[in-house]
Amino acid sequence: MTLAFMPLSLTLMLLVTNASSTSPGAPKKQKGEQRVWAKVGDLVLLPCHLSPQELQSSWKQLYEKTAVRWERHGESSHKEPHMVLEVEYSGLLKRARSMMPRASVRETSFRQGDFSLWIEPLLSDDAGHYEALVRYGKETRRCQLELGMVTVTVNPPGLLVETEPLLLNCNSSHPAKLVGMRWFHNGSLVPISSTFRSRHGALSISRPTVSDSGHWRCELTYSDDERVSATFNLQILGFAGPASPVVYAAVGSAANLPCLLNRDPSASRILGVSAQWSRLAGGDLEIRGISGNGSNGSFTLHLAEVGPRDAGQYCCAVSIHGMTITRDVTLAVMTVTPSIKGPVAEGSRLLLICSLTHPRGHEHFQWRQLSSGLSNGSSFEATPRSPAVQRYYLGSTLELTHVSQEDIGTWECSVHGSEGRLGAVEYELYITGAQLSGPRPILDGQTSFGLILVLFLLLVASILALVLQNRRIFSPAFPALERVVTAPTPGNAGKDEGQEGKSLQTEC
Ligand SMILES: *[C@@H]1O[C@H](CO)[C@@H](O)[C@H](O)[C@H]1NC(C)=O
Ligand SMILES: *[C@@H]1O[C@H](CO)[C@@H](O)[C@H](O)[C@H]1NC(C)=O
Ligand SMILES: *[C@@H]1O[C@H](CO)[C@@H](O)[C@H](O)[C@H]1NC(C)=O
Ligand SMILES: *[C@@H]1O[C@H](CO)[C@@H](O)[C@H](O)[C@H]1NC(C)=O
Ligand SMILES: *[C@@H]1O[C@H](CO)[C@@H](O)[C@H](O)[C@H]1NC(C)=O
Repeated sequence: MTLAFMPLSLTLMLLVTNASSTSPGAPKKQKGEQRVWAKVGDLVLLPCHLSPQELQSSWKQLYEKTAVRWERHGESSHKEPHMVLEVEYSGLLKRARSMMPRASVRETSFRQGDFSLWIEPLLSDDAGHYEALVRYGKETRRCQLELGMVTVTVNPPGLLVETEPLLLNCNSSHPAKLVGMRWFHNGSLVPISSTFRSRHGALSISRPTVSDSGHWRCELTYSDDERVSATFNLQILGFAGPASPVVYAAVGSAANLPCLLNRDPSASRILGVSAQWSRLAGGDLEIRGISGNGSNGSFTLHLAEVGPRDAGQYCCAVSIHGMTITRDVTLAVMTVTPSIKGPVAEGSRLLLICSLTHPRGHEHFQWRQLSSGLSNGSSFEATPRSPAVQRYYLGSTLELTHVSQEDIGTWECSVHGSEGRLGAVEYELYITGAQLSGPRPILDGQTSFGLILVLFLLLVASILALVLQNRRIFSPAFPALERVVTAPTPGNAGKDEGQEGKSLQTEC
């Protein structure tokens, strides 16, 4: 029961916390004086307006002449208050020199009882106590408030580059003791973890990524329960797109390896950005290209014709102000290996093996015939054929059991992943010496074996012919032969064989 209630009470607590937290620029009552928190560079609004009841009772007087004077009291109480901005009854507007372009009031809002002061951009010197004196008709109205400063510091200052550790800090001029600090990114609370560490209230990001960009808010809690927060926009320069992209290219085709920054450095006035492409080939680092300045932050490596040896991992290293960020891009080369090298005879069994040099494991293959020798440019989906001939296969190996005229043409092996079609390779199938006599499934090895057999048979036939000739005519032309043959013969059984062997020798 208690356990079941815990998340609910937590949610309620969060809701209450959220409701009571102050956003920057929002006023907060403090000992009769409102306090407004803002950071340097912000647009800040110092509110001063009549309540709806006051407005109802005195709207007529607001139509008479109105005078508004905004004053600022220095840090020390005995300092003379000085005028920030004044609108006289005559409508004449006066402004302190230091506030010249930055302070303004909306005179059109006076009739709605709104005499607020706007300051933009806010400077650190603007902190202090402000007072407005408003006179309309016979009435006067006084608004008093304090403008407090929140300081957001990002270290290192200036350009933030991916992977470079950074530290975010927030402090304010609030006099009470700081008791807590929370950080929000894109509206959600940042959990303190190994990625986001808290160091004396400051947030350290050890290895920032592009996704750490965006809207940040710090929330400071003081011992008097007041919450002060400030927002800021964090921009981190890094790579756009997936973290380790794989490019699929057919052997012989062109390939573009992407290397794109999330911002155009030249548009952001970041100069001196250069990129270098390299590749580990057989243990050696091979420089594949150097780019002085990528247009639109793109340093694409173009390979005009991809060979199987080009496959592998490439590295794009971008140098920005002495910092280097790298991105690995894998080039996976697709090839088709036919089981028959050279000409394919009609009726043969042909295997087309589609392979990928760098499979990630989740890919699947699909074969289809793009165009055939019989029907023009039609794929299987467009013109389904007789069910006996499959023209659309799943799997990396396509088997054509009896290559026919219909198979002539372009075959395509495409590779697909969860993200869709990744790439494709084509294979042109030609049939040579189409034989009408039927299938001749003779492979290279079988052909040579047949030839040897024929030669051997011819040899045997000639020997037999010789032996027969020797028996019929006891020719005196070969006396030496007779002697050699008869001498080492152990028995009559081996005589014929020995003769044969000797005849062979003399013949060759
Ligand atoms: C806030 O931090 C900045 C820089 O870290 C420092 O200069 C400033 O004095 C701090 N202000 C307060 C009120 O602590
Ligand atoms: C936060 O917002 C920014 C800008 O909209 C975006 O680039 C970033 O990826 C977001 N990050 C997270 C973690 O939501
Ligand atoms: C770099 O860019 C500038 C203009 O943006 C161009 O004039 C210059 O030729 C480029 N340099 C290289 C090496 O591409
Ligand atoms: C840069 O990007 C813009 C818009 O995204 C495009 O119009 C322009 O052609 C690109 N320039 C180059 C050189 O790629
Ligand atoms: C092949 O296509 C071309 C043009 O698309 C056409 O002229 C030709 O007649 C077609 N041939 C066959 C056999 O369909």
